[in-house]
Amino acid sequence: MYDCSIKETMVAADADENKQRKNGLYRRVSAELAENMRHGWADTERHGLEPVAQAPYTARRREELSARFPGELLVVPAGGPKVRANDTSYPFRPTSDYVYLTGDQSPEAVLVLEPGPRGGHRATAYLLPRSDRENGEFWLDYHGELWDGRRNSLTENARLLGLPCADVRSLADLLRAATGPVRLLRGHDAGVDAALAGRTTAERDDEFRVALSELRLVKDDFEIADLRFACEATALGFEDVVRALGAAGPTSERLIEGTFFTRARIEGNDVGYASICAAGSHATTLHWVRNDGEARPGDLLLLDAGVETRNLYTADITRTLPVDGRFSPVQRMVYDAVHAAQEAGIAAVKPGAAYRDFHEAAQRVLTEHLAAWGLFGDRSADEAYELGLQRRWTLAGTGHMLGLDVHDCARARTGTYVDGTLEPGMVLTVEPGIYFQSDDLTVPEEYRGIGVRIEDDILVTDEGNENLSAGLPREAAEVEAWMARLRG
Ligand code: GLY
Ligand code: MN
Ligand code: MN
Repeated sequence: MYDCSIKETMVAADADENKQRKNGLYRRVSAELAENMRHGWADTERHGLEPVAQAPYTARRREELSARFPGELLVVPAGGPKVRANDTSYPFRPTSDYVYLTGDQSPEAVLVLEPGPRGGHRATAYLLPRSDRENGEFWLDYHGELWDGRRNSLTENARLLGLPCADVRSLADLLRAATGPVRLLRGHDAGVDAALAGRTTAERDDEFRVALSELRLVKDDFEIADLRFACEATALGFEDVVRALGAAGPTSERLIEGTFFTRARIEGNDVGYASICAAGSHATTLHWVRNDGEARPGDLLLLDAGVETRNLYTADITRTLPVDGRFSPVQRMVYDAVHAAQEAGIAAVKPGAAYRDFHEAAQRVLTEHLAAWGLFGDRSADEAYELGLQRRWTLAGTGHMLGLDVHDCARARTGTYVDGTLEPGMVLTVEPGIYFQSDDLTVPEEYRGIGVRIEDDILVTDEGNENLSAGLPREAAEVEAWMARLRG
């Protein structure tokens, strides 16, 4: 006898043939097998769970968001996996705003803050529940738990996250039925976007994005501890790379990338951005992520890499290292100039300072060195700085906010970020550099192809600042001594 409910499940599942083919189940489920798969599974519900360490922090963050949008329905999706090809996906990473407000990392999840009748909001995390075994979804669905692994139950998640959880499959109806003003983090969940179509405007969506970005400007203690850990893990990764440099050969940039990635996966979740493993003149290409070159003795290696922790906070650290362990005189000259600029930049990071101060302090020092090397002809360093002539070789800004995203808080308004004031709890990078392109005929030949950047992650404290990445040496002689020690 064929079981009707199972048949219905199969018909529904058949609508997505790819899923069925992938599972090798396409049209081949007998009623006996379907019935068999329903039974004989233990109850694995976990009881007595404690909330995650982040829970009190995420509750406070939600309260802050709630206070900014009284009376409005707030919707923050986590997003889902992006298709790589056919039925394969890129590794999933939830939206940073969803993680910030929940501490959760589930795909297809949505945080909803419903305005309460007496002010405030009621927060609910809408999540996929455990796969149903009665209707066969746990094995007939391509993303059933049998294939993707056990999920937390809604009860377990409510306990862990410290907020009510509900089935995300009921959310679209709830959103369609909702009345009143809505704010949506649009563009991450097509189903949610469709359910709220016409309910917000691009301008209102943008205001919401800006507010979420600005909420994250000042880090709380949980975030600072996690960023500290990210820096420590990244330092271990840099040490691994120094040890591996002895095996330099034709694929060394790949070897370096892979070596660092191994550490990132062991200590954390991933790398926080594509590692820049730039040897020789590749170091003058700021976004060098092809990493397909050699690292030869006599070259510099510019390694810009960061471990992303399991809570998804990332470090962003750069060291420029002599592949054979010793800077040449001209490499050292450029390195020392960048180091001096970084020292000036870091010294300018303190509460009450303008955000732009550290950039200007570092750029001035770089310009003075470039002037001293005669690169501006008859112009003084001041004149060159006024005209911005140093930018031919300094190229980029000197830093950015750091947190869940490597370029954190990117949607914050100019007035609160680049034209704003530093506050205790902000974390930013200070990363001056000098880059002499190998085809730059305006600099002495011996400078060409040299690129140096030094990048550290700086916490603004009540008194001034703390360098979270101080575990890695920066001064040239200390770098050489550190490399010699690691290579034994
Ligand atoms: N690694 C990206 C940056 O330094 O901004
Ligand atoms: Mn950076
Ligand atoms: Mn970087």
